[in-house]
Amino acid sequence: MKAVDSRTIIYSDYQATTPLDPLVVEKMNPLWSDSFGNPHSSDHIVGWQAAKVVTAATESIATLIGADPDEVIFTSGATEANNLALLGLARRTIKKRHRILVSAIEHKCILETAQTLEKQMGFTVDMIPVDKQGRIDLGALERLLDETVLVVSAMAVNNEIGTIQDIPKIASLLESHGILFHCDAAQAPSAMDLRDLATHTDLASLSAHKIYGPQGIGALYIRRDIQNQVEPLIYGGNQQEGLRSGTVPVALCAGMGAACDILTSPDITEERMRVAKYRDTFVELLQDSSFPVIVNGPDVENRHPGNTNLQFPNFDAHEILAALQPWLAASTGSACTSGTPQPSHVLNAIGLTKDQSKSSIRFSFGRFTSNDEIEKAALLVHGTLDHLESESYKKSA
Ligand SMILES: Cc1ncc(COP(=O)(O)O)c(C=O)c1O
Repeated sequence: MKAVDSRTIIYSDYQATTPLDPLVVEKMNPLWSDSFGNPHSSDHIVGWQAAKVVTAATESIATLIGADPDEVIFTSGATEANNLALLGLARRTIKKRHRILVSAIEHKCILETAQTLEKQMGFTVDMIPVDKQGRIDLGALERLLDETVLVVSAMAVNNEIGTIQDIPKIASLLESHGILFHCDAAQAPSAMDLRDLATHTDLASLSAHKIYGPQGIGALYIRRDIQNQVEPLIYGGNQQEGLRSGTVPVALCAGMGAACDILTSPDITEERMRVAKYRDTFVELLQDSSFPVIVNGPDVENRHPGNTNLQFPNFDAHEILAALQPWLAASTGSACTSGTPQPSHVLNAIGLTKDQSKSSIRFSFGRFTSNDEIEKAALLVHGTLDHLESESYKKSA
């Protein structure tokens, strides 16, 4: 395949991964060359300097979610953080707590991990249903709670339909049963203020490449007083309180820290509003066209500002996306599920039929989206629908 400069494409897939912020690159650049130290080398200044960089990054992440720096463990991304949370707790729990609850619209890396615990360790996994907007059915959740539940895992913001969950409310339901709360917050930092996240949760997962930071790094917040209830996935030199052995990647840590600093800056509210406005304009432009376009998922008030998920009745989403290459990048569902023939479990959970799901595309916008791109993107999609319709008319004639 010929390499295409991704800067010339209208990039509308910010929930799959975000471009690196130039400030993040600036922070990381010297660390690839001049400052190459091992942050765990405690006998010399090269190591101390690297450790200082890692400490600063940890502080930035902790500030983003209202945690203390010693409660932040670096991982390779949110997938590993989610695995560490569920597998780690399950492998140290007492027998009585043998149930795990996960929402029906969790990312595959939560669902697969929970299923593995069911198959390999005899846990019972219950799915918490969601309504048409993707919001957790709090009544159903309450009915599932008792002293046999070890942990509830619910994401803060969904990656396909952008639903924002009521995290404080979920937390309040779990308290009286002594149930731990894990929150996959990978998509949340661009969508909402997370200063209270650590107050409401016991564990929370983050990913740098969803927040304009580098790929290959994430973090798991683990409340200090439950850290001894988590068995590591990786054993070795006992770095990071023994919870995740291995040398932490200094440049990536610094990049993640810089990405978090931008998210805690005062400009971020304006950014969220701007992105939401572009998203709304895009949807309006498409809905004004001659083809029916249906929005899947929540109202804009309960939705990631950059997310929309659109159904194009009687069209195949993959055909639309293929015809849009190499001008516009968007996707059907999550990147990790794309390529698998099954329809999205998220769209299924909110009540869409297979056909509705097959004609649905997620568009996600972000920090570097421009008004001009939004207008061009709507024209491109409209032109593509026109083209596909005339092609199918020719075939059937
Ligand atoms: C909600 C959610 N959780 C977890 C992940 C996995 O993140 P990572 O790519 O950092 O492993 C993703 C990525 O798509 C996600 O959207």
